[in-house]
Amino acid sequence: AFIALRQLLDHAAEHGYGVPAFNVNNMEQIHAIMQAAEATASPVILQASAGARKYAGEPYLRHLVLAALEAHPDIPVVLHQDHGASPSVCQQAIRSGFTSVMMDGSLMPDQKTPASYDYNVEVSRRVVDAAHAVGVSVEGELGCLGSLETGEAGEEDGVGAGGKLSREELLTDPEQARAFVEATGVDALAIAIGTSHGAYKFSRQPTGDILAIERIAEIHERLPNTHLVMHGSSSVPQEWLEVIREYGGEIPTTYGVPVEEIQRGIAHGVRKVNIDTDIRLAMTGAMRKAFAQARSEFDPRQALKAATAAAKGVCVERFEAFGCAGQA
Ligand code: G3H
Ligand code: 13P
Ligand code: ZN
Repeated sequence: AFIALRQLLDHAAEHGYGVPAFNVNNMEQIHAIMQAAEATASPVILQASAGARKYAGEPYLRHLVLAALEAHPDIPVVLHQDHGASPSVCQQAIRSGFTSVMMDGSLMPDQKTPASYDYNVEVSRRVVDAAHAVGVSVEGELGCLGSLETGEAGEEDGVGAGGKLSREELLTDPEQARAFVEATGVDALAIAIGTSHGAYKFSRQPTGDILAIERIAEIHERLPNTHLVMHGSSSVPQEWLEVIREYGGEIPTTYGVPVEEIQRGIAHGVRKVNIDTDIRLAMTGAMRKAFAQARSEFDPRQALKAATAAAKGVCVERFEAFGCAGQA
């Protein structure tokens, strides 16, 4: 059944676990996540970007999610708009049946140009007013996602924000976070603590200080009732990179956020953990391998089945690692 993000994350906070929020674009990804949730008795956050709605088409995406609910009546499901670029994108999502929307007012509607604090407050508050009136939850974002290793802002929806930033500029300010939530009433807040979007997060094997974990605690202290969200949380599994390379892919050396770091984040107050890249890497690796190993095969279902199984494996691991397993 559908539930609102607020409801699910309140439960997660009460019981001290984190919920992976997986991006979905097609049936195979939804199959994989729901099978993993069923296998581990986990609640689910399916999130769709503007790009996902464009790829699948809004009615297809909506009906695929409705099909998931019908096939798995006992699994609580949040359908969340990822990185809403404007209040009107969030309105469309609400009309389309989403139970949660992200208003990403940290960037202007082009989702490249950093926005002012006042703009962010204004658009986020407007979305909260409209969403709460119909029982839909809202996630806001405050801060500029980017790697503490390089000082470079990460990709927001595939487009580099560009420019070198100092450590302070790359971290969400705790006092500003408190004021932002007071002014907007968002249910969840995405914070910048050193993660970035995409596969290229860190060029060296990360050590324990790759994220500003203490910053999470500082923000959580001031916002005990607002659920913190970690974007750019893919771990970039080295074993899938190796499969991709072995079967003809070209992905340079790169590292993601170690699962243990995410676990530390959850212990300090993170409740929603956004993951897209890991599923992309697993599916791509599995498809490359399937095509290469059965060269006369031309039924695409063989490769797609392998991709679904690979994505399911990633999801099971994250549900278990984040303490989400058994909470449905
Ligand atoms: O944060 C971005 C997500 O990974 C979605 O990416 O815009 O290519 O669907 P997308
Ligand atoms: P990754 O690119 O690390 O999977 O992050 C996805 C994300 O934050 C979607 O909003
Ligand atoms: Zn994101």
